[in-house]
Amino acid sequence: MIDLIIRNANLPDGKSGVDIAIDKGKILEIETQIEAEAHQTLNLDHWLVSTPFVDPHFHMDSTLSAGRPRINQSGTLLEGIEIWGDLVPLLTADDIKHRARTLCHWSIAKGCLAIRCHIDVTDDSLLAVEALIELREELAPWIDLQFVAFPQNGLFRHPPAKENLLRSLDLGVDIVGGIPHFERTMADGTESVKVLCQIAADRGLLVDLHCDETDDPNSRHIETLACETQRLGMHGRVAGSHLTSMHSMDNYYVSKLLTLIKEAEITAIPNPLINITIQGRQDTYPKRRGMTRVKEMIDMGIPVALGHDCVMDPWYGLGSHDMLEVAHMAVHVGQMTGVDEINAMYAGVTTTGAEVMHLDHIGLKPGCDADLVILQARDPVEAIRLRATRLYVIRRGSVIAKSDPMQVNLMLGESDFGVDFLAIN
Ligand code: FE2
Repeated sequence: MIDLIIRNANLPDGKSGVDIAIDKGKILEIETQIEAEAHQTLNLDHWLVSTPFVDPHFHMDSTLSAGRPRINQSGTLLEGIEIWGDLVPLLTADDIKHRARTLCHWSIAKGCLAIRCHIDVTDDSLLAVEALIELREELAPWIDLQFVAFPQNGLFRHPPAKENLLRSLDLGVDIVGGIPHFERTMADGTESVKVLCQIAADRGLLVDLHCDETDDPNSRHIETLACETQRLGMHGRVAGSHLTSMHSMDNYYVSKLLTLIKEAEITAIPNPLINITIQGRQDTYPKRRGMTRVKEMIDMGIPVALGHDCVMDPWYGLGSHDMLEVAHMAVHVGQMTGVDEINAMYAGVTTTGAEVMHLDHIGLKPGCDADLVILQARDPVEAIRLRATRLYVIRRGSVIAKSDPMQVNLMLGESDFGVDFLAIN
């Protein structure tokens, strides 16, 4: 008698009518018909089962603080950084944990079971680092949290940042972060990339920089990041978040740059909701979209994961931490409406996201942890189209969230019937 069997599922790769046997928190078997008895059975009638959503780029210290101490009137990155700088001294550990815990509950409810969080290490108290490390332990049974030490005000522009970043790593933060385009000069930005990569190389850590989050096509810190990754032999261990300047760069230069990124095995983490909202703010018309060149990177074989970045904070006042909204926006902003392209955006918030986050325990194969999401959709395209209801969220073989299928009852004259928005076959 095994713990759980899921029957008659559709999988993201197009397989249909599949059974999944789960025991002791692991996937035992995935086959068309499994002969087994289980304590619990979920009969799905061809609903989509997928690995859970993951969010490879988020800010948990600032989430759910929108409007404190004031609204971002210009909507720009720089005003957001200014507002956040005013809020940080007012924060308490309890407040940070309360907001972050609420966000994690939203995330789990939406089927997202792993989040990479950039934690601002500007403040010498490292209050957010300590609070979120405690919260990570509290929530570990239900969600995987990775932390990036993020010097929001610049490694050199804010002199205590380097010391604070190193102290954060000592406390248990996993990944080295940075923000080269916010340093005072291009030269300082270049130097910050070198210093941060060296710290990661010395400590055997991953790197994930906010890199070139600007409309300025001359912001080319990704080039330095690729070069340092090569020089230090850190292939596969470095991610470039945002990379929005690439949107505005010259095509010829980008053709060289993509090769450098590919050679260094750098992964890319655009944040479509935030990039479309924050970039192009100083344009009149035409107004740039600001998202990096996702289609071209995927064509080159560069792994592209998609992040949510913000929910109700100084940079973005909307959102409910739904990774299907992120994928939906990526499809639109990147004009990626082909079926393969939509599937790639679904992978960006599931399997490719897990790969970029080095989450080897996640996968739809025997031996992987039974972390799964079951959607009221037949395939990934339908999941994105409908931002489909998450019927079940499963963590290590246990159902940890459940929603009723979405259906609207119409009352039209004499008739009374339900509509569910699924495709007509
Ligand atoms: Fe960010």
